[in-house]
Amino acid sequence: MGMKERIAEIHELVSGELSQVDGMQALDALRVKILGKKGELTALLRGMGQLAPEERPAAGQLINEAREKFTAMLDERLAAIKARDREEALRRETIDVTQPAPLPPLGSEHPMNVTLQALVDCFAGMGFEVVEGPEIELDHYNFELLNIPKNHPARDAQDTFYIDDNIVLRTHTSPVQARTMLTRKPPIRIICPGRVYRADELDATHSPVFHQLEGLVIDKDVTMADLRGTLNAFAERLYGKGITTRFRPSFFPFTEPSAEVDLTCMACHGAGCRVCKGTGWIEVLGCGMVNPKVLDMCGIDSSVYSGFAFGIGLERITMMKYGIPDLRLLYEGDMRFLGQFK
Ligand code: DAH
Repeated sequence: MGMKERIAEIHELVSGELSQVDGMQALDALRVKILGKKGELTALLRGMGQLAPEERPAAGQLINEAREKFTAMLDERLAAIKARDREEALRRETIDVTQPAPLPPLGSEHPMNVTLQALVDCFAGMGFEVVEGPEIELDHYNFELLNIPKNHPARDAQDTFYIDDNIVLRTHTSPVQARTMLTRKPPIRIICPGRVYRADELDATHSPVFHQLEGLVIDKDVTMADLRGTLNAFAERLYGKGITTRFRPSFFPFTEPSAEVDLTCMACHGAGCRVCKGTGWIEVLGCGMVNPKVLDMCGIDSSVYSGFAFGIGLERITMMKYGIPDLRLLYEGDMRFLGQFK
């Protein structure tokens, strides 16, 4: 077989196999099979030694041309395969920017905040302004200006966290009353929500840190009827029609007269149930007419002005509203509990 025929054969082989080749590996294998050390074309080159010397240059040229031709064919296929692989990779890695992202789980408002916000909305609607005061408080504001004398049981070291002789963690939000009266002129209409501290053991109904909301109104001709009307409006706004207040005489050094106030039980609407221990009422706050002594100590003329004040326990009304049996649930941050208030 002549050199030309042999090369034509190899050419056919290359074309045939190239049409089957579908990846880099197969292509490399084909390159080795034709052009490698033991490849078909290389074998031809080796065989040149058997040709007559005058035939060699022409044969050499044929082989070289064939080598270039095959290399070009292989390279062309290589480029095509690379382009195809790249296309495929791009297609595989496409990101669908229109696909909706998975939503991270959303938290929910803490039930204490739900209560607080509802109270703030309710009182803001009646013209009250929200003010705040310090949690680390002077004895002077926490007790003295509120007519709580030095030997009063409320000052007992068992109840109060003392920082030193003159500084306490406030035991109620009432000192904000004194601070407000000392810095503002009547008419005054404020509420003050915040944290308060007492040296109590943590149990189902007590905590060394809890929350109150204080209210204070000072103006000319403010009466107990205004206090009652305000608290009735609060009860109904927050807990619905039919929820009302019951005033029981009580004592607080900073109010005279003073009352403890019950709300119609929200669980049974007054019929009597386990929550209200059969009475139909739940105690939720203390209140009264601001003691004239307190007005005078805080720089407000008690012969001209009068006022009322109240202090609501926020944990208690939150627990009542949602039927939460244990105060500690409010502080533990357990998602299984909190997730129920979405
Ligand atoms: N400060 C009282 C307490 O912590 C609650 C209170 C009672 C606040 C009567 C008042 C009030 O403003 O008039 O128990």
